[in-house]
Amino acid sequence: MGITGNTVKSVGLLAETLGPGGLHPISENPAWPSGVADDHSPVEFSAAFEADRPPTVRAIVETSATRPSRSANVSAALAALDRLRRRESLDTTRFDAVRDLFLPARLEHDFAFWYSLVFRAGAAPAVKVYFNPEVRGPEAAGGLVREALGRTGFAAGFPVLRDHAVTRPGLDTYSFFALDLLDPRQARVKVYVSHQSAGVTEVTRAAKAAHGVDVDRVPDFCLLTGGRTEAFDGRPLISSYTFLDGDVAAPSGYSLYVPIRDYVADDEEARRRVLQVMAKYGLDPAQFDNALRAVARRPLDEGVGLIAHVSLRMGRPRPGITVYLSSEAYDVASPRPVSLVV
Ligand code: TRP
Repeated sequence: MGITGNTVKSVGLLAETLGPGGLHPISENPAWPSGVADDHSPVEFSAAFEADRPPTVRAIVETSATRPSRSANVSAALAALDRLRRRESLDTTRFDAVRDLFLPARLEHDFAFWYSLVFRAGAAPAVKVYFNPEVRGPEAAGGLVREALGRTGFAAGFPVLRDHAVTRPGLDTYSFFALDLLDPRQARVKVYVSHQSAGVTEVTRAAKAAHGVDVDRVPDFCLLTGGRTEAFDGRPLISSYTFLDGDVAAPSGYSLYVPIRDYVADDEEARRRVLQVMAKYGLDPAQFDNALRAVARRPLDEGVGLIAHVSLRMGRPRPGITVYLSSEAYDVASPRPVSLVV
């Protein structure tokens, strides 16, 4: 996308992170059913836009082993971390503080450990790690998040999240616990909550947990991206909370993710909606079209799911829009008959 400065190095980093499973030919069926993307590709790209700045390009990556299994993949991911450390200066203080919580001997879920590689113009690549709060089973998720926030210095944040965002048992669930591998003074700690069958009422309540959030933007963002304000009955709306050092009483930032691919007929419709949102927030539409062109390998109206999620970031560190783009390495989902889209 022309902003990573050193493409060869960035691709090398991606290959290191994919691990031995990254050598698996894409002409065959996936050797491991990665949850990173709908077609089980272990990579998903995203572009984060903010006013008057070049976009940030990111890749969510699941490491897999030569013979993938839950535990072999965690071992491969830890081996990848050793390699990444040799290439970049990573700080694993917070990672080390919580890893035993999220990487138990017995893994109850296929997803245990993903990476995000973050490429920003003029800066060294950054690395973020995602853990699964349900890795010890769904009942243990709240306790794990509480303990992990405590160990990273954000104990006071837990009740704030729980009371605003996790109010409907079985429907509001902790989906990710994420950490920047940076010095704790700069590293964000992020907690994600999925809201099954929710709408603006639930999400507005969830957004109020964070400082500096203009909750009036929520209904409009839902309408522009999802074409509705209630009954997101397909893939769930997701909230994420950002905790920053020096601001421990409550989250410093909030993002809302709309899984736009379940609420459009095809990617042409998704693109039009994203462009409307970009216009509304004064963001440069060409930046989005450039990112889309870099990833798309088919006409947009011939499939759905290339544009997977759209998120609105509010509060600190910086407000903006992020768009998640599937690589569709293995498969393309067919457009939906328009009549099915309410
Ligand atoms: N594919 C999963 C999902 O859609 C996980 C995921 C990948 C995700 N990228 C994401 C979740 C971006 C939220 C936002 O849930």
